[in-house]
Amino acid sequence: MTGPSTIIDPRDDVLGRSRVTDTPELEAFYEELAARNAGAFWKRANAIEPWEPATRYRPTLWRYAEMRAMCLRALDLVRPDEAGRRVVTLLNDSDAGRENVAVCGWLFSGMQAMRPGEITPAHKHTASAHRFIMEGKGAYTVVDGHHITLGANDYVLTPNGCWHDHGVAADGEVSIWQDGLDIPLMNSLETNFYAVYDQPAQTAAYPADDLPLTYGGAALRPEGVAAWEKPYSPVMVYRWEAVRDALLNLAKVSVGSPFDGHMMRYANPLTGGWALQTMGAHMRMLPGGFRGKAHRHTGNVVYNVARGRGCSIIGGQRYDWQTHDIFCVPAWTWHEHVNLDAAEEAFLFSFNDFPVMEALGVRIEEPFPKNDGHQICAS
Ligand SMILES: [Fe+2]
Ligand SMILES: [Fe+2]
Repeated sequence: MTGPSTIIDPRDDVLGRSRVTDTPELEAFYEELAARNAGAFWKRANAIEPWEPATRYRPTLWRYAEMRAMCLRALDLVRPDEAGRRVVTLLNDSDAGRENVAVCGWLFSGMQAMRPGEITPAHKHTASAHRFIMEGKGAYTVVDGHHITLGANDYVLTPNGCWHDHGVAADGEVSIWQDGLDIPLMNSLETNFYAVYDQPAQTAAYPADDLPLTYGGAALRPEGVAAWEKPYSPVMVYRWEAVRDALLNLAKVSVGSPFDGHMMRYANPLTGGWALQTMGAHMRMLPGGFRGKAHRHTGNVVYNVARGRGCSIIGGQRYDWQTHDIFCVPAWTWHEHVNLDAAEEAFLFSFNDFPVMEALGVRIEEPFPKNDGHQICAS
């Protein structure tokens, strides 16, 4: 076959892009290269170097009412000591990333339900993890010997390489949380290790909640304690009430962002940076009636509606959401958020792979340039 080998997009017909016209001699050359595990870069260059990021992932929304019921069914069908982790995985509405069970880009996400008295056996992995608690009472995690109690809308860290096990106290209630991990990134980098602890659960080596009680005072830094030299936040758990109050205070003195309303990063208080090395998280508060403008950026984001009801327009499509629905925004996809309640604030938790984008120097963002910043909605 003769003709241009690579031009699909008309924009590619310019100097600096591949626009070779194949000939019988070139076809023969390609075959000889292939026989030597080699190829002609110009055959693939335009495809693997797009003009801008071309995500293979789609926006996807999971309704909490449905997913909660599925998690509760899993309680009866499999035991945590059989499953290792009794997690219902969230899969993108595309065939992208399935080999690593990716929800979106470099990110994995799942939902985990546990009964009172159950434990998830202690283990560790190279992948970093964090969790957003959706409901329940008496849930806890133990991270490298630090026992951390968990309540609804708390955000908790399981940094890479830390021993961890989870459970719900015998006098607690069925608890459900969302997990986020960077398993797809670790597997793509071929750096994933896994180990199980030599006991079913760790014995707490410190007083309960010692790390959040030591480091969790807003704008306060403890003196006279051992220096924290680990590359992640020592707070470990960020309490809902403190995050909510911080956002309500911020709203008293700030107009906020046209895209995200009022937003707080879950930060490492010792550095101001992200709490984990590979994944970040935010809580944003959309005031009653907030209608955000659209923007897009590199990096993938998974949202969990902490409280409220609204909709997001993602890639021109409207997704309605309410408390604890989960949805994702793939890289470089236009998105804007709307609070459909005229009076009550909506709170959106989200986690992302922004620390990776920043470390690699590719965190890029731009506002929607037309129509006063709003997409034309297809539905
Ligand atoms: Fe784990
Ligand atoms: Fe955004």
